[in-house]
Amino acid sequence: MDSFISWVGGKKQLRKEIIKRFPVEGVEKYVEVFGGAGWVLFGKEPHKKEIYNDINGELVNLFRMVKYHPDALEVELAFMLNSREEFFRQKMMPPERLTELQRAARLYYLIRASYGSKVSTFGCHFRDVSVIKNLQEVHKRLANVLIENKSFEEIIRQQDSEGTLFYLDPPYHGTEKFYEMENGFGEDRHRELAELLRNAKGKWILSYNDDSFVRELYQDFRIEEIERKNNMGMAVGGNKVFRELIIRNY
Ligand SMILES: C[S@@+](CC[C@H](N)C(=O)[O-])C[C@H]1O[C@@H](n2cnc3c(N)ncnc32)[C@H](O)[C@@H]1O
Repeated sequence: MDSFISWVGGKKQLRKEIIKRFPVEGVEKYVEVFGGAGWVLFGKEPHKKEIYNDINGELVNLFRMVKYHPDALEVELAFMLNSREEFFRQKMMPPERLTELQRAARLYYLIRASYGSKVSTFGCHFRDVSVIKNLQEVHKRLANVLIENKSFEEIIRQQDSEGTLFYLDPPYHGTEKFYEMENGFGEDRHRELAELLRNAKGKWILSYNDDSFVRELYQDFRIEEIERKNNMGMAVGGNKVFRELIIRNY
């Protein structure tokens, strides 16, 4: 099934390549460390225990509202209008003044109404912003998924065990500035992640952009190249074909 949102760096196109490399046996718990829109989570068969995690509190709140209060969220969205004025009114609204439900509706609205789902500028397209088409389906799929709001090092340390499978999709190296809602993800954070994974007990599979920095960090692991059409536009140089890496420790 599909995710209910688009997200910068979302793995809609790449997910088949990732999922087909998942281990078939021995996985007791699946952890999506950099959850985003959860394209891989929604695209795979459910594991017995599953965790979705992201550091973005607004995004995690939206996932929680879809999981626990889909009907109330539907009502909250019903009167949303796709207009430039409303877009900037919502964008300027400080989330701390809103209820959790209003915050979830606001983020969904900003994703739908913005250019490239980047939340920053008005998209100027005739999209319906007042419904989540597959809301009930996503709500059911999330029923047994634990939703966490932690930074990667905390969730990895907490969930690492022999039976854990981590799927990791960190912000790509060199594209940090395109993730407006984060506190930045510089080279030190990429190194920290590699160090943690080097010592992990569980299995892990990682998707990254193909560059020499990433290749060097993970030179001791299994690295495969995948080519796909670039959907990040100028963020990665505007090339038509974009090379990505799938790296794993098994
Ligand atoms: C490339 S996106 C993930 C896209 C996702 N795989 C999908 O298909 O939609 C990277 C995500 O990492 C999250 N993130 C950034 N820094 C993080 C951190 N320190 N810990 C956990 N998540 C983080 C961002 O909020 C963003 O949603």
